[in-house]
Amino acid sequence: MTTYRHFYVKSHAKTSPDINLKDLPGSAGRLDIVARCINSAFWLSYGIRKNVIFHTILHGEPRAPVYIRMEGKKLRKVTPDERNIAIFIGKALKKFDTNAEIESTPGIFVSRKTFEELLEENKDKNFYLLDEEGDDIFNVKIENPFFILGDNADIAEEEKRLLDKYDAKKISIGKKSYLSSHCIAIINWWMDRHGL
Ligand SMILES: C[S@@+](CC[C@H](N)C(=O)[O-])C[C@H]1O[C@@H](n2cnc3c(N)ncnc32)[C@H](O)[C@@H]1O
Repeated sequence: MTTYRHFYVKSHAKTSPDINLKDLPGSAGRLDIVARCINSAFWLSYGIRKNVIFHTILHGEPRAPVYIRMEGKKLRKVTPDERNIAIFIGKALKKFDTNAEIESTPGIFVSRKTFEELLEENKDKNFYLLDEEGDDIFNVKIENPFFILGDNADIAEEEKRLLDKYDAKKISIGKKSYLSSHCIAIINWWMDRHGL
């Protein structure tokens, strides 16, 4: 049976489909961060991790919240560079419909969803909030994981309270504050090394 790894990254990226591919960190509202996180979540040297499911909710103007899910098993044609990943996010934003979930391209799904709804839908998994001050990952048993990370602006206090409600465990990969994409690479490495 496949053991899935879920990653969620909160994003403050813009939700309009007219993404300027030359300005992902600026006018796109740090879409570069999400693109790098997606790169770290899925790509191996040769191929894609089929057991990874990546989730993000874009919180930027003008249509937030926009939820995007990418499923490694079904992804096609996406390549690991930030620009290409941003193109596929743009395609998802073009097809975004407030009434129904749409598969904008193979393996990429877009819909309206709040963070609370996402947690409720995934409550059969164990939530692990990546937090510098959490329990050292060396001492934590990881099972059926749904990892949650902030972007450059971190997870809001209100979201942390919701995570408490869903019994999320805070885990730390060290005292230094790393980039979200680097945290995902480290977690993937950790899971690989432990055969999880
Ligand atoms: C760039 S950091 C956020 C930086 C900082 N907390 C802030 O907003 O000023 C992005 C995310 O990576 C995760 N993260 C960074 N360093 C970590 C560490 N040492 N252990 C666990 N998670 C970490 C957290 O989820 C954090 O929200």
